[in-house]
This record gives sequence, C-alpha cells and structure tokens, in this order.
Amino acid sequence: MSSGLGKQSRDSFGSKFGVVAAAAGSAVGLGNIWKFPYITGEFGGAAFLFVYLGFILAIGLPIMLSEFIVGRGARRNAFGSFKHLAPGTNWKLVGFLGVGAAFMIQSFYGVVAGWSMRYVELAVEDSFANRSASDIQTLFSSFIEDPVSPLYFQLAFMVLVGAIVIIGVQKGIEQFSKVLMPVLLLIIIYLDIKAVSLEGAKAGLEFLFKPDFSKLTGEGVLSALGHAFFSLSLGMGTLITYGSYIKKDNNLIRTAAQVTAADTIIALLAGVAIFPVVFAMGIEPSSGPGLVFITLPNVFHQIPGGYIFAILFFLLLVIAALTSSISILEVVVAYFSEELKIKRRVATILAVALTSVFGVMCSLSMGIYSDVKIFGYNFFDLLDHIASNILLPLGGMFIALFVGWYLKRNRVAAEINQGGSISDRLLSIFMILVKIVAPLAIGFVFVKGLL
Ligand code: PFF
Repeated sequence: MSSGLGKQSRDSFGSKFGVVAAAAGSAVGLGNIWKFPYITGEFGGAAFLFVYLGFILAIGLPIMLSEFIVGRGARRNAFGSFKHLAPGTNWKLVGFLGVGAAFMIQSFYGVVAGWSMRYVELAVEDSFANRSASDIQTLFSSFIEDPVSPLYFQLAFMVLVGAIVIIGVQKGIEQFSKVLMPVLLLIIIYLDIKAVSLEGAKAGLEFLFKPDFSKLTGEGVLSALGHAFFSLSLGMGTLITYGSYIKKDNNLIRTAAQVTAADTIIALLAGVAIFPVVFAMGIEPSSGPGLVFITLPNVFHQIPGGYIFAILFFLLLVIAALTSSISILEVVVAYFSEELKIKRRVATILAVALTSVFGVMCSLSMGIYSDVKIFGYNFFDLLDHIASNILLPLGGMFIALFVGWYLKRNRVAAEINQGGSISDRLLSIFMILVKIVAPLAIGFVFVKGLL
C-alpha cells in the first residue's frame, strides 16, 4: 500500500519543513526552469513578468491558502474534500476540472522531462563542448523532431513516476529532494553570476526587468495568469490533497508564503541565468519551448567545473520534474481509485498508460505532426493551453468562490487560527480577495484573452 497520498494513509507530515518541502517539491519543477523563461521570452519580457508577479501575489497566494484551508479542514483529497465540506452539492464537480487538467499536464510534462533526461546523457558525453550556439540549437531541434528517440526518454520518465507511486516512496523522494533542491538553487546562482558577467548581459537583464507595457497582449495576460496557477501547482486540487496532510499546529499562512516565495525566486533566478545568454549569443528570446535547452549548454563549457555542473543541473532538473510529476499523477490516480473504485495499483498503471499515449502525441507534434493544428496550436501546445490557461484558472476561481462564499469568514478564521493567527484586518483582505478580486480578475482575463 502507498505510504504517500492515498486516502488510506492519513498520517501527517513529520516536520513543518516536511510539508513545505513537499508542496515546494510540487511547485518547483519544469514550470520554473523550462516554461517560465520561454513564455516570458515569447510574450515580450519584463511587462509579462510584472503582470505574472501581480497575479502570484493577488491571486496565487490567496488561492494557495484556500487550497490548504479546504484540504486541512476536510482531511481528504480534492474530490472527497468538496463532498465532505459541502455534502449534496455540485461543488465536487470542481474535482473533475482538476482531473482533466492533471491528465493533460501529465501528458506533456513527461515529454519535457524526457528531454531533460536526454540532456543528462548529452552532458555526460560532453556533447556541448566546442559547439557553436547554432550547433546547439540544431542539436536540440533535431532531437525533439525525431519521431522515435524522444519517446524512449519520455516513456522511461513515465515508468519511473508510476513506479514511485506504486511502490509508495513519494515521501522518500521528497526527503531526498529536500537536500537536492538547494543544490539546484546553488547551481542556478552560479550560472547567474556567469550569465550577468557576459558581454551583452545588460540587454538580457533589461529585457527581463525593464517593462514596456505596450507590448502586452490579452493572450500574454492570460498566459501570465495561467502560469501563476501552473507554477504554484494551483487550481486542480494538488495542494488540497497536500493540505490534508498538514498538521493542525502548522501556520498555513506562513507555509503558503514560503512555498510561493521559493517558487517565484527560483523562476526569477532561472530567468537571470537565461536571458543574458539569449542576448549575448544572438538567440531569439521567442525561440519557444527549447529556450533553456539551447541557452544554458553554451554557458557550461565556459565555466570552471562546467562538465560536472552540466550533468548535475540536468539531473536535478529531472528530479525537480519528478517531484512535480508525482503530485500531478496523484490527482488522476486518486480519482481512478477513490471515485471509480479501481485498485490503486491498477489505477496508477492506467493513469501512466493513458497519459503516456497522449504524451507520445505531444512529442510527435513537435516533429512529424507539427503541421497538424487545432485552433492554431499543435497538440502539445493545445494541451498546455487548455490545461494551464483555462482549466487551472477556472478551478482556482471555484476554489476561491468556495472558500469565500460557501465556507465563509468564521470557518475560514477557525481553520487558519489553528496553528497560526490572523488579524481581523488581514482576514478581511483575504476574504475580499477570494470572494471578489480573484474571481472577477480571472473572469476578466478570460474575456480579454480568449475572445
Ligand atoms: N508546478 C509544477 C511546475 O512548475 O513544474 C507543475 C504542476 C504541478 C502544475 C502540480 C500543477 C500541479 F497541480
């Protein structure tokens, strides 16, 4: 039986650091290091970043706290929590949105995690040495466009995630990554130092931090909102489930603030490592999903110890992807096993198999099927767009409405005040954010970005 997140085991995280580490393990992943830089590049840089940061603070943080309140209050997974707290209502349907989002995200996430695994191998083979920036771009694009070789890596990653969930060693992985993630952070800081000292770094930093709001489009704002949810693991019940393991003496506000801060800092530091290189090497900021893979290899062979750091960096990226992916898969597995009553082991195999099939389609849509467009997106981007920019914000909107209008102020205060304390003023601000500001802002951004 799983010692992880199954409903059978309702034990709590041992230490306060344990739950922060697990939630941060879910939040910090490919979203920070792969997706954040490339969409920031696509949507024009600093203006996108500032809007993103605004969404993190005004919408992401309050919704993360909301998910913790619901999860710890109900001590169940997302579906079960809504059923328990609002019996006989349709609130449990919010869980469906989450399962749909998790299914789509898991599908393309495995593909990019597979790319990262391939890069560990390339780093071990010292394949980045003596290559020009354009050779490195070709190396990446010929790999992802190949119909077969990315699939090996994607499937290897998917099997690994499934095995971890079946064997039930999620907590072990989290303990282990608690030590490893600070190492990843240190490597990124080392890359930052090198990146900002490159000739041409200034243009990269200006791109990232000097906003030109005239460049911002409705689609950009929608993507900034979607990415706030994606990066913080919000809107699909992941943090409701994790919240159900938080002990009653934990300060939920502090935990939410720490996870949000860690996630945001890592994304920013990744941006600082990447954009100076983009400008120094004459790479297009809007190069798309390959950005991290075509920039950083140019730096490793210029720094002392670069050979080892390249291997470590991509290895740790795979581990960061693993801890996030476990939390995504769990949403699908919990639904199959607890709602559809399929045995947990079978549910896991089924979830891995189905999302792998969709993943293969995502991978092929980078190469041989790149011309097949649905609403103007290839299959990979379509899943990302629907899940991140539509389902997650919608799920988050309902979670905010649930906490604001259904649970109401007294129950919210009672839950927060176990293990922490909230002043009347702060509580009022929080209630306004979840009752009115977050739902209206999400609705408004939908209208602007989708129409
Ligand atoms: N937050 C993860 C990342 O940034 O890579 C991805 C993710 C995990 C999204 C869990 C949603 C989720 F529920």
